[in-house]
Amino acid sequence: MKTSYDVLIIGTGIAGLQTALNLPKSLNILIVSKDYAWECNTFYAQGGVAVAVDEADISLHVKDTLEAGTGHCNKEAVEVLCSNGPLAIQRLIDMGFEFDKDEKGKLLYTKEAAHSQNRILHAGGDATGRYIHLFMMEQLFCPILYNTQVTDLLIEDGECYGARVLHADRIFNLYAKKVIIASGGVGSLYEYHTNARTISADMQGICLSHGIALADMEMMQFHPTAFVLGNAVRKQLLSESLRGEGAKVVDEEGKRFVYEYDTRGELAPRDIVSRAIFDYKQKTQKEVYLDLSAFEEAHFKQRFPSIYFNMKNIGYDLPRQRIPISPAFHYAMGGIKTDLEGKIAGVKNLYAVGEAANTGVHGANRLASNSLLEGLVFSYRVAQDILKTIAQEKTLKVFSEKEAILMKEGDKELKNELRNLMWCHAGIMRDKTNLEKAFKRVEEMIELPIGKLLKLRLLVSREIIQSALKRKASLGAHYIKEDVNR
Ligand code: SIN
Repeated sequence: MKTSYDVLIIGTGIAGLQTALNLPKSLNILIVSKDYAWECNTFYAQGGVAVAVDEADISLHVKDTLEAGTGHCNKEAVEVLCSNGPLAIQRLIDMGFEFDKDEKGKLLYTKEAAHSQNRILHAGGDATGRYIHLFMMEQLFCPILYNTQVTDLLIEDGECYGARVLHADRIFNLYAKKVIIASGGVGSLYEYHTNARTISADMQGICLSHGIALADMEMMQFHPTAFVLGNAVRKQLLSESLRGEGAKVVDEEGKRFVYEYDTRGELAPRDIVSRAIFDYKQKTQKEVYLDLSAFEEAHFKQRFPSIYFNMKNIGYDLPRQRIPISPAFHYAMGGIKTDLEGKIAGVKNLYAVGEAANTGVHGANRLASNSLLEGLVFSYRVAQDILKTIAQEKTLKVFSEKEAILMKEGDKELKNELRNLMWCHAGIMRDKTNLEKAFKRVEEMIELPIGKLLKLRLLVSREIIQSALKRKASLGAHYIKEDVNR
């Protein structure tokens, strides 16, 4: 097998695929996928892609993004996102992608929480991510190496030369002039999450092990409405667009209580709604539901077919029956620190894009449906930078193919313990005592005779906890409650 490329892309979500599609076919590109290509967060994205509906809406999209981000966004990144959004969408449409339209052929925009107007494009009803993913896979012209676990980056003297991988029971190096990390966030660190099973913070951990900075790691987003009962690892997301179009959050008696927490009720930013549900459940010990009675059945089935059929498969008759809900981990605002071209400071030829990256665009709380747009806009900028800077000749360095033991007996139990620890102590509501407890346990686990992959998860978990401990006051998704133990 060929082991030397112009560009190596790690990850097959929107950010990775679109980076490849933005590059010329003349480049030698390889994409590596940890599993099947569709095991990525893009594939499971329901709601849609947020985009300014016209020129005048760009500044409003900026304003909504900054407000949801609770004053913690990088304003320049937000302006790049919102002002380049319409062009990025147009490029996708020009390639042949079809968003949902009305009978007159006009694009349909829906609303989600904290958006001041309807600006969410969707496809296949509630299957936006799946439709975009399939479309991009159909356009792809470069190979994908499936079932490939990246175990390290080949970095020497501030320059990246490729990645070490495990594929078909063999460890070997893949060399490239440019390496792009587009591997998504950190979902598997948490007990309850909506992420693909491949999303387990490996690349963030590898970056930490090379001294590469992560930023905003205390900023972890919890989606308010997931169906978390049952044994599925990835919890069923119940799109925010359900609430945007009339679904209500109620308790056992049918009482709408989110208004007690915020005057915007169910359409408050998602950190607020998540905390309201979490707190109300703890305080009252009552079950909380998503009530879909505002929907007419035929319309519901046509507008939200994935949710309709997924829930039907587990015995729910929608929209007639209400669904028990809980918040679940959904998205990492924090990630590998990059500039607005995806470049990672201090390591030449290494980029990060999409959820793996932190440009500061989401601040302390990502505005709903801004992430697919981020993937489109910033992958284009990464590709442009690659085209500007890719050297025709690059001196190749040869790296050892020796790798530490990746998995050891007992890792699975520790992984589950870690998930519970992160959910309980570094989750929706935090306090100093429990964060310190979690930090101590993670430090202990790191010293155990464990495999490298678990160690990477632990390094990232420690970073999340440390960042949370450093930020003493609540901000956006990072909520510090009064410490009853002090
Ligand atoms: C959703 O459909 O609620 C998810 C949208 C998002 O995460 O932006």
